[in-house]
Amino acid sequence: MNINQLREEYLKFFEARGHRRIPSAPLLPENDPTVLFTTAGMHPLVPFLLGESHPLGKRLVDFQKCIRTNDIDEVGDASHLTFFEMMGNWSLGDYFKEESLAWSYEFLTRTLGIQPSSLSVTVFAGDADAPRDDEAAGIWKRLGIPVDRIHYLPKKDNWWGPAGQTGPCGPDSEIFYDTGRPDHPGCGPGCSCGKWFEIWNNVFMEYDKKADGNFTRLKQQNVDTGLGLERTHAVLQGLDDIFKIETLWSLVQKIEELSGRSYAENPSPFRVIADHLRAASFAIADGARPSNVESGYVVRRMIRRSVRFGRELGIHDNFLGALSCTVVEMMQATYPELERQREVIAGALDAEETKFKHTLERGLRQVNKVFDHLKENHINLVSGEDAFDLFETYGFPLELTQELARENGLPVDEEGFQRCYAEHRESSRQNLDQKFKGGLADHAEKTTSLHTATHLLHKALRTVLGTHVQQKGSNITPERLRFDFSHPERVTPEQLAEVECIVNDQIAADLPVNMEIQTLQQAMESGALAFFSEKYGEQVKVYSIGDFSKEVCGGPHVTRTGAMGHFRITKEEAVGQGIRRIRAVLE
Ligand code: SER
Repeated sequence: MNINQLREEYLKFFEARGHRRIPSAPLLPENDPTVLFTTAGMHPLVPFLLGESHPLGKRLVDFQKCIRTNDIDEVGDASHLTFFEMMGNWSLGDYFKEESLAWSYEFLTRTLGIQPSSLSVTVFAGDADAPRDDEAAGIWKRLGIPVDRIHYLPKKDNWWGPAGQTGPCGPDSEIFYDTGRPDHPGCGPGCSCGKWFEIWNNVFMEYDKKADGNFTRLKQQNVDTGLGLERTHAVLQGLDDIFKIETLWSLVQKIEELSGRSYAENPSPFRVIADHLRAASFAIADGARPSNVESGYVVRRMIRRSVRFGRELGIHDNFLGALSCTVVEMMQATYPELERQREVIAGALDAEETKFKHTLERGLRQVNKVFDHLKENHINLVSGEDAFDLFETYGFPLELTQELARENGLPVDEEGFQRCYAEHRESSRQNLDQKFKGGLADHAEKTTSLHTATHLLHKALRTVLGTHVQQKGSNITPERLRFDFSHPERVTPEQLAEVECIVNDQIAADLPVNMEIQTLQQAMESGALAFFSEKYGEQVKVYSIGDFSKEVCGGPHVTRTGAMGHFRITKEEAVGQGIRRIRAVLE
């Protein structure tokens, strides 16, 4: 079974059990300011887990492209990836533990033919917030898992969510594949020795974490599951190296061709390049561009790491743009946006690679300055801080600095470097964690109003500037909205004032906001705006704001415009050829 057949089998299995397919959401969350990338299939579904009705009903199934960068420095071993695909089935207040676990077990053992004896499971051990999950354990026993392969683990292992500080969450039950490697005292599912391979997580989202830290029951019991596509495929193929699955292996082979080096001898650089290039290509296809902030910075870092590891393999010419064609070819059947953005991806990679090479040259000049300074002052050691600065600012790996230092007869304080590195990593982790705190659920009220304001702004811009105005992107934080749209020239202050005035008139009119479920076809025929057609399923939600605006959108929105506050545009600027950006607030 190849990876696409596996994907199809999964979707069909759940469709046969009443689930409707939903498309993979973009990697850059549109209306959630608190995460850089979509990290799990449940992310785009938060409003529906909280009770918003989904146009396709209560049982959904999909595969979702995800990027997780918390462990970016671990990439290079046999199992870590930043970009991966997660298959998921959801119950939005419909079935619960019994069906969910039974279907997971049936899919793995019957459809995929995995030996039941290779599976072990974990369930929540219970604490002051929620009881021990004897119900899930009982279901596993009835399904035939022996008690010694059912493990009770605490919250840090067996609880998922909320995605932010507050919101839907619950105990989970994880399914592990036993690779058959020897165990050791204290080893069990959850141990990181490599024996246990987590393949599927069933989350029973029946709790709502409140801002005061307490857990209350949600009004509906949800199921959120995540089955790792690459990992499951590797298990089925009997592979103990995730990079040997076909979609990554073809990249590894190309890199072998380009470098003339062999993966078997030194796999790490191949793995970093294959993983990072794939992640960066997908992120660029969804609108990210290398920069110094947020998701753009992550993309920049992945490209620069790839260039560095390419040099380690002796590749000195630009290669990432050309190599991205292999990513496109391998995955375009599932993700057509790759094909549509093929040139944009290659162009952005190539430009960043060239830019980084200039930085490297500047870095070499900086290295020489550092060495001269040390020599002049008769210091016989490159400090950890200097080595770290070269790493952080100029992208110089420690090994490169050591090599150059050696040529100058200087040792490098390696421990000092590792200390700076660990401190930095801790603080960027905290930043990322911070970023992850406060998901959609947190700032619901503020962001919901700004989301409705975005629709009003869109329509007002089309009224003032013309119907060539189309939404090109949107990003909402609890403080402001940001809206990108097509327009060939600067929007004049008079036009901006007129737009503001129109939006504020609609707010003052306290218009009702209504939602209707239609097919995309019906929605378009009724004149609803819809500019992201690849993202929609067969049935869509159409939000109307009085008679003023009508747009296809996932929601949520306010129910009336009256209490939104006063709308003010704070900035208008260009962000690209023919694309303008407006920032605005509600006061
Ligand atoms: N949200 C859970 C996870 O990411 C299950 O999909 O593991």
